[in-house]
Amino acid sequence: MPATTTTAAELLEQKIKSRTARVGVIGLGYVGLPLAVEFAKAGFHVTGIDVQESKVAQLNRGDSYVQDVPASALRPLIEAGKLQATTDFSAVADLDTINIAVPTPLRKTKDPDMSFIVSACQEIAKYFGPGKLAILESTTYPGTTDELVLPMLEQPGLKVGEHFFLCFSPERVDPGNPKFITSNIPKVVGGITPACTRMGALFYSQALEKVVPVSSTRVAEMVKLLENTFRMINIGLANEMALMCDRMGLNVWEVIDAAATKPFGFMPFYPGPGLGGHCIPIDPFYLSWKTKQAGIEARFIDLAGYINGQMPHFVVDKIQNALNDHSKALKGSHVHVLGIAYKRNIDDVRESPALDIILLLERRGARISYSDPFVPTVRLDHRTLAADDPLAMSARADCVVVVTDHAAFDYATVVRQASLIVDTRNALKTFDSPKIVRL
Ligand SMILES: NC(=O)c1ccc[n+]([C@@H]2O[C@H](COP(=O)([O-])OP(=O)(O)OC[C@H]3O[C@@H](n4cnc5c(N)ncnc54)[C@H](O)[C@@H]3O)[C@@H](O)[C@H]2O)c1
Repeated sequence: MPATTTTAAELLEQKIKSRTARVGVIGLGYVGLPLAVEFAKAGFHVTGIDVQESKVAQLNRGDSYVQDVPASALRPLIEAGKLQATTDFSAVADLDTINIAVPTPLRKTKDPDMSFIVSACQEIAKYFGPGKLAILESTTYPGTTDELVLPMLEQPGLKVGEHFFLCFSPERVDPGNPKFITSNIPKVVGGITPACTRMGALFYSQALEKVVPVSSTRVAEMVKLLENTFRMINIGLANEMALMCDRMGLNVWEVIDAAATKPFGFMPFYPGPGLGGHCIPIDPFYLSWKTKQAGIEARFIDLAGYINGQMPHFVVDKIQNALNDHSKALKGSHVHVLGIAYKRNIDDVRESPALDIILLLERRGARISYSDPFVPTVRLDHRTLAADDPLAMSARADCVVVVTDHAAFDYATVVRQASLIVDTRNALKTFDSPKIVRL
């Protein structure tokens, strides 16, 4: 009888099923850290790799810098040796699975910046080999995994889907959302080959509640871009509604709330001061960049991008007009910005419209202060701004502008004390006062 040999696929499957597979996560940010924690909680031994020494040191002390990962969840895993962090990519040699969750920003020209994926993959490739599963999670254009990552990880004599496995799985985490967290958000995964998809699905099913396999890495990449483009365009429509309602003297919030009572065929999206975060303002441009190469202009994306980009200017015009109505000029006035994170109850200021609003106000001669319970300091235009007390400043400022509707703000006191408030989030919905100017 011929001796039976265990294939790379069988061996990896056994390790994943028995949770003895050594799991690696490259990039320990908002996406990577919660994922690493989830797999460590599921019983795997997890190694996180990040280029930032300070983050690695902090994690190894059991301290978290990601709001959705409390130290109480992290520390026991670190102490039990289930999770460890390093800056040393040679750790990849001992890993069986490698999830890549590094940033994918846009260049100033709105072209994708692949440099983080490329540099991570260059390092991984040095220690990559047979029997390993790599999964790209960074949001990117369709084709990245097979065109860019696969050639970097391929080695002579090793066949993808047979000797090693490669997938794309979009990350859908929603920072600050208490209901949907990494473990209960369905996980879409598509592999280079059907065997890759099966391996990726098997891997995620160990730690996450629901896995949704799709036919290819490109489909999985496109899924994420559809989701975020859907949001971006619908927010663009809500913002355009706000501009139209403003001209027509209508309260856009009342219009949307009433429309949302329709039990089918309508999903409410809300206007605001502009898009923020590392996803919605960025991801759709990955798609438009890629489709341009195929000769298709992504016109909805461009239009929504234009309208959303106008919102900080619209807010500043609103502030200026509101001050004028109170016989004050914006130039020389003190404007207090309430909230600068890009959305409520989180600490992330990436792409936050508050930063644009501050710069635009300053350009028109206003004096600025801000408060945000989640953001004690912020770097802006080569300076560091420090948060002020929201109540003291509300009483003192010529105008308060609600840019981020954090639940922690004492809105009743702000309304009582402030002389003028521009509310870009409908945070003051329940207050009726002539001092309030709504978006
Ligand atoms: N933040 C979100 O809400 C969210 C949601 C879904 C998808 N995403 C996507 O996930 C990806 C990661 O986003 P994030 O918000 O976690 O970013 P992040 O900036 O919070 O974290 C990325 C981490 O990667 C590290 N890093 C950078 N280059 C590296 C390299 N070469 N090797 C190892 N580590 C490296 C950084 O130091 C950082 O700690 C992006 O593609 C993003 O679009 C983010």
